[in-house]
Amino acid sequence: MTTRTRVSFLCAECGSEAPKWLGRCPECGGWDTLAPATPASRPASNGGSPLSLALVPVPTGGAVPSGVGELDRVLEGGLVAGSVTLIGGEPGIGKSTLVIQALAGLAEAGRRCLLVTAEESASQVSERAVRVGANAPGVSVLAESSLAAVLATIDSHAPDVVAIDSIQAVSDLDLGGAAGSVSQVRECAAQLVALAKQRDLAVILVGHVTKDGDLAGPRALEHMVDTVISFEGDRHHALRLVRALKHRFGSTAETGVLEMTGGGLVDVADPSELFLCDRAVSTPGSVVAAVLEGSRPLLVEVQALVTDPTPPVPRRSAQGLESKRLGLVLAVLSERAGVKIGGRDVYASVAGGLRVAEPGIDLALALALASAAKARTIAPGFCAVGEIGLGGELRQVSHAARRLSEAARLGFAQALVPERTPDVDGIELVRIATVGEAVAITGVL
Ligand code: TYD
Ligand code: MG
Repeated sequence: MTTRTRVSFLCAECGSEAPKWLGRCPECGGWDTLAPATPASRPASNGGSPLSLALVPVPTGGAVPSGVGELDRVLEGGLVAGSVTLIGGEPGIGKSTLVIQALAGLAEAGRRCLLVTAEESASQVSERAVRVGANAPGVSVLAESSLAAVLATIDSHAPDVVAIDSIQAVSDLDLGGAAGSVSQVRECAAQLVALAKQRDLAVILVGHVTKDGDLAGPRALEHMVDTVISFEGDRHHALRLVRALKHRFGSTAETGVLEMTGGGLVDVADPSELFLCDRAVSTPGSVVAAVLEGSRPLLVEVQALVTDPTPPVPRRSAQGLESKRLGLVLAVLSERAGVKIGGRDVYASVAGGLRVAEPGIDLALALALASAAKARTIAPGFCAVGEIGLGGELRQVSHAARRLSEAARLGFAQALVPERTPDVDGIELVRIATVGEAVAITGVL
């Protein structure tokens, strides 16, 4: 473990930290880009003398629900006064929609809300609010990008909750540099964080994240804020996921599932049902996997298609799955189970727009591939859970019982599982040791 050096200089180009001033940034190589860092929020002093922990008062007040159920689930209750929450996501994913809906809910719970719109006009915000039924009278809108003006409005208006959409579009005119530069984003956020602590104000910062996951500005903020929420999804699908990457007031294990509809974001109460509703049960290459999103079990359909190769190199396409996982499963199928499809074009996907990056999907993927290659369907009442090792062995996955209970709830009669999986009520477990056995037992060999 490394010990953290006290931050004293920051690069205005890449946001990296250096313990002392240097003429050239060691990270990005920029010349004369390091400047003394503004101290991030510091906790209030308790008078300089230590106090028994038992005597330090625990903050009361608790979290206020935003009314967006799936966001509240991830926040473990809602928004906490005096906290700063960063909501990061790609442009167009629905951040502004999420924020206006959450503010309307908070206003309904009696909180005075201020939405600072630095990218869109007040009328654009109002149009969206009407469309999603979030034009609550308790929400005020300020179209402004100057931080000083924003701070002055917070002073005069005294809201309980302020949302800044987006932190990259506001700037401190005294600081110089373009809005959105790392130094501007950090400085503006630092001032808002300080104000949040001072006034017991809940602050929501919206931050844009680029397609390749680069948080540019927002990454420089992660250590300054209390909660970092990632808002994800595929723009071509309606599904949206809310995850907490950091949460000072609870765990980061929950995942929220929402659907973008014509009337805004709607909680998806039963995501497994949504993922399975269009399932192609009588087509080869379709197998249901019980996976985990955070601590939440989800049933998803893994689909595979194997066709004649297109020269010169056979195609590999993995959608909603990691391509290295697809490569590994293909290799193991070939070497350990005698299912040789490496020379053909292979398409594999998780239906519904979800991205699964956990190994529990391996077994379902292997079966979907074998089923597609042999053009043999797998019984629809079957689901599969298990990680595949390089030896072709099936490995245990975390929270097997939770996954299998979800499968039982959705009416699956049988599950193919690794050998030592404990019994679960309501579903028959077919325990197997290797991927070869799995392929044989499901009849696709
Ligand atoms: P938006 O909240 O503006 O995204 P962001 O702030 O992350 O850039 O919404 C993005 C898209 O969502 C927009 O292009 C259209 C779609 N949308 C709907 O499908 N339904 C709705 O009710 C709203 C408000 C937006
Ligand atoms: Mg927006």
